[in-house]
Order: sequence, then structure tokens, then C-alpha cells
Amino acid sequence: MTDSTTWAILVAAGSGERLGADRPKAFVALGDRVLLAESLERLDTSDWIDAVVVAVPPEWEDAAIALAEEIVASKVAAVVTGGATRAESVRAALALVSDDALVIVVHDAARPLIDDEVIERVLLPLSEGFDGVVPGLAVSDTIKRVDRGVVVETVDRESLVTVQTPQAFSASALRAAYAGDEPVAATDCASLVEARGGRIRVVEGDPRLLKVTTRADLALVASWL
Ligand code: CTP
Ligand code: MG
Repeated sequence: MTDSTTWAILVAAGSGERLGADRPKAFVALGDRVLLAESLERLDTSDWIDAVVVAVPPEWEDAAIALAEEIVASKVAAVVTGGATRAESVRAALALVSDDALVIVVHDAARPLIDDEVIERVLLPLSEGFDGVVPGLAVSDTIKRVDRGVVVETVDRESLVTVQTPQAFSASALRAAYAGDEPVAATDCASLVEARGGRIRVVEGDPRLLKVTTRADLALVASWL
């Protein structure tokens, strides 16, 4: 794998509590396959991606390996057991990313409809010196800061975006963000890079990268397939 320079980490180790299925979210049905199949196949067939590490819940490793074989995902370099939080799952997968990787793309399996256009958008600014690049969407609702049910202020939404995955990083910036072994609490990777002073660019996201959280989200994404 010496010329593999762009690696993807696919985090699929959540339990899917809010979905409330009888199995982890990554293994619920989406169309006629499991949810994980969609993002795994899309990353595997992307010309931008050289290798993939997948993090899955304990005891679902064999199911993930069987799925990779079934969909002939030839770039899967490793399937790892995820951790208790998203960040711990990213860290577990990062340990299996080759030292040759120059760029690492981290993606939530809960966002099945990743495509090459958004992968390209997050990869390009890395060559302009950014440490990381995230897809963002403008906020259309009015946003208020609230304290115990009482409005404190109305926040200027012009400067706000909601952030999705895939998120792309220079491998060195991402590795530095996850260095050490203290537990990290972060809902995305970019916030850890930001905390160390990293420069993060925001590019246009995609409404179809909706994160499947509830049954209704699952039905909506299935209708877009
Ligand atoms: N994730 C993970 N390891 C965890 C928690 C989350 O790999 N310990 C992944 C999920 O599999 C998902 C992504 O991080 O692809 C975003 O997490 P989220 O949508 O919150 O999924 P879950 O944690 O599974 O759902 P819930 O919070 O409802 O339990
Ligand atoms: Mg969660």
C-alpha cells in the first residue's frame, strides 16, 4: 500500500439509541441492504480514496467483514472495534491508518449518501494550506440562545453553519488532534483540530448528507436512494 495517500475512516460503531432498532444503526435495513453498505460502497468506489478503515460496535466485526466481501469493497484495509464515543471510535480507526497516508477523510456511516462531488470539495482546499475542511450548510431557521426556557439572545445566523461529514484533514493535523490516550469529548473531528489552533475551511455541504438519527430520517434517506 505504499502509494496509498488518502485514507478514509468510516465510523459506524454507534448503537443508534435514538433510532431504537434491535441492532446497531449501521446494520439496520436501508433499501435492500444494510445502512453501512451504502457509504462503504461509495467510499470504496471513489477514485479519491485509496483505503478505508471501518469502526463497528463490539461483536459486529465479522458482520462488517462479510459485508465488505459481499459488496466487493476491495479497499477495506481494516475493520476495528469502535469505542464508547464517536471520538474514541475515530481514535481506534486512526491507529490502523497507514503511516503513508497524507490525507485522512473521516465520515459518519449514519450519512449514507456521500458522493464524489462532496469528497472532492473537502479535499481540494487541503492543498491551499488548510489543516482540515468540513462541509457546511447555511442555517435557515432563526437561532436563539436559551437558558431554562427563557431567551437570552437571538444569534446572527449569517455567521452560522451546520456541519456535516465527510471531513478531510492533513494526516499530521488529525493525528496530533487525537494524540495521547485521554478520553476526548467532541462531536466532530474538526473541533479537536481547531482546539489545537488548526485552520479549518468550510465548503458547501449537501442536504442529502442528512445524518440518519430517527426512523423518519431513515425513511427520508431511503426515498432518496
Ligand atoms: N459513532 C461511533 N462510535 C460511537 C458513537 C458514534 O462510531 N461510540 C458513529 C456512529 O456510528 C455514526 C456517527 O458516529 O455513524 C454519528 O453518531 P450518531 O449519529 O450519534 O450515531 P449513534 O451514536 O449510533 O446514534 P445515537 O446517538 O442515537 O445512539
Ligand atoms: Mg450518538
